Amino acid sequence: MSTGVDPVKLMKQQVAKAAAARVQSGSVVGLGTGSTTAFVIQFLGDRLQSGELKDIKGVPTSFQAAVLAKQYGIPLATLDDVDHIDIAIDGADEVDPNKNLIKGGGAAHTREKVVDGLATEFIVVVDSSKLVDRLGSTFAVPIEVLPMALAPVTRAVEKLGGQPELRMGVKKDGPVITDQGNMVLDVKFAEIPDPAGLEQTLNNIPGVVENGIFVGLANLVLIGELKDGQPSVREM
Ligand code: A5P
Repeated sequence: MSTGVDPVKLMKQQVAKAAAARVQSGSVVGLGTGSTTAFVIQFLGDRLQSGELKDIKGVPTSFQAAVLAKQYGIPLATLDDVDHIDIAIDGADEVDPNKNLIKGGGAAHTREKVVDGLATEFIVVVDSSKLVDRLGSTFAVPIEVLPMALAPVTRAVEKLGGQPELRMGVKKDGPVITDQGNMVLDVKFAEIPDPAGLEQTLNNIPGVVENGIFVGLANLVLIGELKDGQPSVREM
Protein backbone atom coordinates (compact mmCIF):
# COMPACT_ATOMS: atom_id res chain seq x y z
CA MET A 1 0.00 0.00 0.00
CA SER A 2 1.34 3.44 -0.92
CA THR A 3 2.17 5.78 1.99
CA GLY A 4 1.50 8.75 -0.29
CA VAL A 5 5.00 10.16 0.32
CA ASP A 6 6.83 11.06 -2.88
CA PRO A 7 10.37 9.59 -2.54
CA VAL A 8 11.91 12.10 -4.99
CA LYS A 9 10.44 14.97 -3.00
CA LEU A 10 11.88 13.46 0.20
CA MET A 11 15.36 13.28 -1.37
CA LYS A 12 15.11 16.85 -2.65
CA GLN A 13 14.04 18.14 0.77
CA GLN A 14 16.81 16.28 2.56
CA VAL A 15 19.54 17.51 0.23
CA ALA A 16 18.13 21.05 0.29
CA LYS A 17 18.20 21.07 4.10
CA ALA A 18 21.83 19.90 4.13
CA ALA A 19 22.83 22.66 1.70
CA ALA A 20 20.89 25.40 3.51
CA ALA A 21 22.60 24.37 6.77
CA ARG A 22 25.99 25.29 5.23
CA VAL A 23 25.07 28.96 4.79
CA GLN A 24 26.60 31.21 7.45
CA SER A 25 25.36 34.51 8.85
CA GLY A 26 26.52 37.56 6.93
CA SER A 27 26.85 35.67 3.62
CA VAL A 28 25.89 36.75 0.14
CA VAL A 29 24.06 33.73 -1.25
CA GLY A 30 23.36 32.85 -4.88
CA LEU A 31 19.82 31.48 -5.02
CA GLY A 32 19.38 28.83 -7.71
CA THR A 33 16.31 27.91 -9.72
CA GLY A 34 14.19 24.75 -9.82
CA SER A 35 12.24 22.44 -7.57
CA THR A 36 15.22 21.42 -5.39
CA THR A 37 16.48 24.94 -4.79
CA ALA A 38 12.91 26.01 -4.02
CA PHE A 39 13.29 23.87 -0.87
CA VAL A 40 16.71 25.45 -0.18
CA ILE A 41 15.14 28.92 -0.28
CA GLN A 42 12.37 27.74 2.03
CA PHE A 43 14.87 26.29 4.54
CA LEU A 44 16.98 29.46 4.44
CA GLY A 45 13.83 31.43 5.22
CA ASP A 46 13.08 29.10 8.14
CA ARG A 47 16.61 29.59 9.53
CA LEU A 48 16.28 33.38 9.22
CA GLN A 49 12.92 33.36 10.92
CA SER A 50 14.16 31.25 13.84
CA GLY A 51 17.07 33.67 14.34
CA GLU A 52 19.65 30.92 13.79
CA LEU A 53 20.81 32.71 10.61
CA LYS A 54 21.24 36.48 10.34
CA ASP A 55 22.08 39.16 7.84
CA ILE A 56 22.22 37.22 4.56
CA LYS A 57 21.57 38.66 1.12
CA GLY A 58 20.22 36.54 -1.73
CA VAL A 59 21.16 37.06 -5.36
CA PRO A 60 18.42 35.33 -7.38
CA THR A 61 19.12 33.43 -10.61
CA SER A 62 15.59 33.87 -11.96
CA PHE A 63 12.21 35.49 -11.54
CA GLN A 64 11.12 32.27 -9.76
CA ALA A 65 13.98 32.46 -7.24
CA ALA A 66 13.22 36.14 -6.55
CA VAL A 67 9.53 35.43 -5.95
CA LEU A 68 10.32 32.55 -3.55
CA ALA A 69 12.97 34.58 -1.71
CA LYS A 70 10.45 37.37 -1.10
CA GLN A 71 7.86 34.83 0.03
CA TYR A 72 10.29 33.34 2.58
CA GLY A 73 11.69 36.67 3.81
CA ILE A 74 15.18 36.57 2.29
CA PRO A 75 16.51 40.08 1.54
CA LEU A 76 17.49 40.35 -2.12
CA ALA A 77 20.46 42.01 -3.82
CA THR A 78 21.54 42.44 -7.43
CA LEU A 79 25.05 42.13 -8.81
CA ASP A 80 25.20 45.94 -8.75
CA ASP A 81 24.74 45.86 -4.96
CA VAL A 82 27.37 43.23 -4.06
CA ASP A 83 30.98 42.75 -5.15
CA HIS A 84 31.14 39.03 -4.36
CA ILE A 85 29.03 35.94 -3.74
CA ASP A 86 30.12 33.73 -0.84
CA ILE A 87 28.07 30.66 -1.64
CA ALA A 88 25.67 29.66 -4.41
CA ILE A 89 23.31 26.70 -4.18
CA ASP A 90 21.70 25.41 -7.35
CA GLY A 91 20.18 22.28 -8.86
CA ALA A 92 21.20 20.41 -12.01
CA ASP A 93 19.69 18.14 -14.63
CA GLU A 94 22.77 15.95 -15.05
CA VAL A 95 25.98 15.58 -13.02
CA ASP A 96 28.99 13.62 -14.30
CA PRO A 97 31.77 12.10 -12.13
CA ASN A 98 33.92 15.23 -12.66
CA LYS A 99 31.15 17.46 -11.24
CA ASN A 100 30.40 18.84 -14.70
CA LEU A 101 26.75 19.66 -15.18
CA ILE A 102 23.93 20.13 -17.61
CA LYS A 103 21.52 22.79 -16.38
CA GLY A 104 18.67 24.76 -17.87
CA GLY A 105 15.68 22.45 -17.41
CA GLY A 106 13.93 25.57 -16.15
CA ALA A 107 15.45 27.81 -18.85
CA ALA A 108 17.37 29.76 -16.19
CA HIS A 109 20.91 28.58 -17.05
CA THR A 110 22.15 31.94 -18.36
CA ARG A 111 21.68 33.82 -15.09
CA GLU A 112 22.61 30.68 -13.16
CA LYS A 113 26.00 30.52 -14.88
CA VAL A 114 26.67 34.17 -14.04
CA VAL A 115 25.73 33.82 -10.36
CA ASP A 116 27.07 30.29 -9.73
CA GLY A 117 30.31 31.14 -11.53
CA LEU A 118 30.92 34.15 -9.30
CA ALA A 119 30.48 32.23 -6.07
CA THR A 120 33.46 31.38 -3.88
CA GLU A 121 31.69 28.09 -3.14
CA PHE A 122 29.15 26.61 -5.56
CA ILE A 123 27.13 23.74 -4.11
CA VAL A 124 24.97 21.61 -6.40
CA VAL A 125 21.91 19.91 -4.94
CA VAL A 126 20.46 16.90 -6.75
CA ASP A 127 18.68 13.64 -6.13
CA SER A 128 20.49 10.49 -7.20
CA SER A 129 18.55 10.23 -10.49
CA LYS A 130 20.64 13.13 -11.87
CA LEU A 131 23.95 11.23 -11.77
CA VAL A 132 25.30 10.10 -15.15
CA ASP A 133 28.57 8.59 -16.38
CA ARG A 134 28.67 11.00 -19.32
CA LEU A 135 26.92 14.32 -19.88
CA GLY A 136 24.18 14.19 -22.49
CA SER A 137 23.15 10.61 -21.67
CA THR A 138 19.66 11.51 -20.56
CA PHE A 139 19.25 15.23 -21.10
CA ALA A 140 19.51 17.55 -24.10
CA VAL A 141 21.72 20.65 -23.85
CA PRO A 142 19.58 23.79 -23.42
CA ILE A 143 20.78 26.74 -25.47
CA GLU A 144 19.35 30.22 -24.96
CA VAL A 145 19.09 31.95 -28.35
CA LEU A 146 18.24 35.46 -29.51
CA PRO A 147 14.87 35.08 -31.28
CA MET A 148 16.10 36.79 -34.48
CA ALA A 149 18.97 34.27 -34.71
CA LEU A 150 16.90 31.11 -34.24
CA ALA A 151 17.22 29.87 -37.83
CA PRO A 152 21.02 30.26 -38.23
CA VAL A 153 21.70 28.89 -34.73
CA THR A 154 19.47 25.88 -35.51
CA ARG A 155 21.48 25.20 -38.68
CA ALA A 156 24.79 25.67 -36.86
CA VAL A 157 23.99 23.16 -34.10
CA GLU A 158 22.75 20.67 -36.71
CA LYS A 159 26.14 21.01 -38.45
CA LEU A 160 27.76 20.09 -35.12
CA GLY A 161 25.72 16.87 -35.09
CA GLY A 162 23.06 18.06 -32.65
CA GLN A 163 19.32 17.56 -32.94
CA PRO A 164 17.71 20.84 -31.87
CA GLU A 165 14.15 21.20 -30.68
CA LEU A 166 12.55 24.53 -29.85
CA ARG A 167 11.28 24.38 -26.27
CA MET A 168 7.53 24.95 -26.20
CA GLY A 169 5.48 26.42 -23.38
CA VAL A 170 3.19 24.52 -21.06
CA LYS A 171 -0.16 26.26 -20.54
CA LYS A 172 1.13 28.81 -23.08
CA ASP A 173 0.88 28.52 -26.85
CA GLY A 174 4.18 28.95 -28.63
CA PRO A 175 7.77 28.83 -27.40
CA VAL A 176 9.13 29.25 -23.89
CA ILE A 177 10.45 32.79 -23.43
CA THR A 178 13.30 33.17 -20.93
CA ASP A 179 13.57 35.82 -18.22
CA GLN A 180 15.73 37.73 -20.74
CA GLY A 181 13.14 37.53 -23.54
CA ASN A 182 14.95 34.86 -25.55
CA MET A 183 14.08 31.34 -26.75
CA VAL A 184 15.53 27.94 -25.86
CA LEU A 185 16.73 25.18 -28.17
CA ASP A 186 17.10 21.79 -26.47
CA VAL A 187 19.86 20.08 -28.42
CA LYS A 188 20.36 16.32 -28.19
CA PHE A 189 23.89 15.09 -28.95
CA ALA A 190 24.59 11.39 -29.48
CA GLU A 191 27.57 11.83 -27.15
CA ILE A 192 29.52 14.65 -25.52
CA PRO A 193 33.13 13.42 -25.26
CA ASP A 194 34.50 16.93 -24.54
CA PRO A 195 32.03 18.98 -22.44
CA ALA A 196 34.41 21.98 -22.11
CA GLY A 197 35.01 22.06 -25.87
CA LEU A 198 31.31 21.82 -26.69
CA GLU A 199 30.46 24.53 -24.16
CA GLN A 200 32.89 26.91 -25.89
CA THR A 201 31.91 25.91 -29.42
CA LEU A 202 28.21 26.47 -28.77
CA ASN A 203 28.81 29.84 -27.13
CA ASN A 204 30.85 30.94 -30.16
CA ILE A 205 27.84 30.64 -32.48
CA PRO A 206 26.57 34.19 -33.09
CA GLY A 207 23.11 34.53 -31.57
CA VAL A 208 23.73 32.03 -28.76
CA VAL A 209 23.39 33.77 -25.42
CA GLU A 210 24.47 30.87 -23.18
CA ASN A 211 24.29 27.09 -23.04
CA GLY A 212 23.59 24.76 -20.14
CA ILE A 213 26.94 22.94 -19.95
CA PHE A 214 28.71 23.93 -16.71
CA VAL A 215 32.33 22.76 -16.63
CA GLY A 216 34.63 23.15 -13.64
CA LEU A 217 32.28 25.40 -11.65
CA ALA A 218 30.86 23.09 -8.96
CA ASN A 219 32.89 22.77 -5.76
CA LEU A 220 30.62 20.28 -4.05
CA VAL A 221 27.71 18.10 -5.15
CA LEU A 222 25.25 17.03 -2.49
CA ILE A 223 23.25 13.99 -3.54
CA GLY A 224 19.95 13.04 -1.95
CA GLU A 225 19.43 9.27 -1.80
CA LEU A 226 16.99 6.79 -0.34
CA LYS A 227 18.46 3.97 1.73
CA ASP A 228 15.97 1.41 3.01
CA GLY A 229 13.28 3.98 2.37
CA GLN A 230 15.06 6.62 4.45
CA PRO A 231 16.41 9.79 2.80
CA SER A 232 20.11 10.49 3.28
CA VAL A 233 22.71 12.83 1.79
CA ARG A 234 26.09 11.96 0.30
CA GLU A 235 28.87 14.27 -0.90
CA MET A 236 30.67 14.15 -4.25
C1 A5P B 1 16.97 25.73 -14.08
O1 A5P B 1 17.05 26.25 -15.36
C2 A5P B 1 17.80 24.50 -13.99
O2 A5P B 1 19.15 24.70 -14.25
C3 A5P B 1 17.59 23.78 -12.67
O3 A5P B 1 18.54 24.14 -11.73
C4 A5P B 1 17.64 22.32 -12.97
O4 A5P B 1 16.73 22.07 -14.02
C5 A5P B 1 17.29 21.46 -11.75
O5 A5P B 1 15.96 21.61 -11.42
P1 A5P B 1 15.22 20.65 -10.42
O6 A5P B 1 15.85 20.85 -9.07
O7 A5P B 1 13.78 21.10 -10.47
O8 A5P B 1 15.39 19.27 -10.94
